[in-house]
Amino acid sequence: MRLKNVTKITIGIVFVLLMVATLQLLIQPTIAAAPQLPNNSCADCHRKLLFTSEKQRQFVDIRIKHLESGISCSIVCHEDKLNKSTASTYAMWSISTHALFNVTCEKCHGGNPVATSKEGAHSGLSNISIARANTPETCGKCHGAELEEFKSSLHFKKLESEQEGPAPACITCHQAHSVRVLTASEIEDFCSNCHNRITGIDPSVPKKAETALASVNELQVGLSKARSAIITAQASGKDVTEAEADLENARTILKHIPSVWHRFNLTYFDTEVQQGITKTQEAEKAVSGGPAATAPTKSSGFEGIMLLAGAFAVYFLKRH
Ligand code: HEC
Ligand code: HEC
Ligand code: HEC
Ligand code: HEC
Ligand code: HEC
Repeated sequence: MRLKNVTKITIGIVFVLLMVATLQLLIQPTIAAAPQLPNNSCADCHRKLLFTSEKQRQFVDIRIKHLESGISCSIVCHEDKLNKSTASTYAMWSISTHALFNVTCEKCHGGNPVATSKEGAHSGLSNISIARANTPETCGKCHGAELEEFKSSLHFKKLESEQEGPAPACITCHQAHSVRVLTASEIEDFCSNCHNRITGIDPSVPKKAETALASVNELQVGLSKARSAIITAQASGKDVTEAEADLENARTILKHIPSVWHRFNLTYFDTEVQQGITKTQEAEKAVSGGPAATAPTKSSGFEGIMLLAGAFAVYFLKRH
């Protein structure tokens, strides 16, 4: 009896061990391969610098002290310093959209990503291409549409004029390595770093910018509403050609919104977005036969609630 149990357990253990070994064999190649994905000496070597530099440690210390005393960092104060530390550049880049699309270090910095020694790889590093005022050209190699629009902005003219005074370049708003995109809720705080009463640079801009970006969401919502209205109309055999043309128009406008934004002409931007919104409304109207069609659905919801409330009232009256 006892002996039988022991063999059963032994067989069980051996079985489990075999399973684990097989699983490991299956998983290990993928684990080992993942970090080598970029196959690029800049990324390979700089990854190893992570968390080893004294600067990085100092930054983390400062950060912890700030958190303890409840001071929150603004975008411009510390992130700029963090941005320039050799160790943290890799960390920020590695989780960015650029890393995902293989926009590796040498695409902006130059150097030789095939050489494995530091000296070999660093030969040809350029300080010119990463100079703040030159980033429109550097980034514009791949973001041509944004650069084209940006060139007609006052921001660009100010950058070009080499006049004293602040003007934002691509990396002022996107950061060099995280290349994040400011959202409508962040924009007011960010723009008011420069656009405020103290500097005298148009202080009405931040609020307007927030409204402008928020209206892009409105356009997106309008688009999906129009699309489902068209699908419903199509199912009931209606002619949707006119509505689809309006929808296509609105889609084209939305597609160009990110580049149009960089002209930094908020009135023009707003006109474009509003035009898109109008197109989505026209598309919806074309298939639903005017605004009257939306009214019944609203009132039927209200009627439903009234009916339920009535049923409850009757139920309570009967019990008491
Ligand atoms: C074998 C390791 C190694 C390789 C390969 C390497 N780097 Fe570096 N890099 C470093 C180290 C270490 C530093 C820190 C500063 C120093 O010691 O020069 C650094 C610093 C830098 C800096 C800061 C400016 C400077 O000159 O100090 C830049 C920019 C840079 N590397 C870009 C690159 C690019 C782009 C590539 C690929 C073309 C690359 N690195 C390849 C090790 C490497
Ligand atoms: C999209 C372009 C771009 C990519 C990709 C990029 N960088 Fe940078 N990098 C910049 C710019 C621009 C600056 C200057 C930032 C500033 O002045 O605030 C910079 C600054 C730096 C610095 C600060 C030192 C210095 O010379 O000013 C280091 C170090 C650095 N980058 C390393 C890297 C490494 C390592 C990678 C790849 C993991 C990388 N960068 C990828 C654009 C880029
Ligand atoms: C070698 C080409 C290349 C260069 C140079 C380059 N980018 Fe990009 N960038 C890309 C690609 C590819 C994507 C991802 C696809 C897309 O959105 O077009 C991207 C995406 C972005 C995004 C969108 C990020 C997101 O999460 O949606 C921003 C912002 C951006 N880049 C800013 C910059 C800035 C600022 C610079 C210069 C410092 C720069 N890029 C330089 C190729 C490049
Ligand atoms: C003053 C701030 C500012 C400057 C300067 C700026 N951008 Fe932007 N950028 C933004 C904002 C905000 C958005 C988001 C716009 C939107 O949602 O329509 C954006 C969007 C983008 C996108 C599209 C991201 C996406 O979701 O598709 C790219 C790419 C980009 N910028 C690249 C650049 C390049 C390249 C430059 C320099 C030539 C630049 N930006 C200069 C603020 C800025
Ligand atoms: C680094 C400083 C700086 C930052 C950050 C900045 N701007 Fe500007 N902006 C300027 C300067 C300087 C001018 C030119 C003012 C002039 O010459 O009249 C300007 C002009 C403008 C103009 C055109 C003038 C006007 O009154 O209509 C718009 C629009 C604008 N900025 C929008 C923005 C938005 C939106 C943001 C935030 C995403 C932003 N700016 C962030 C410095 C900045």
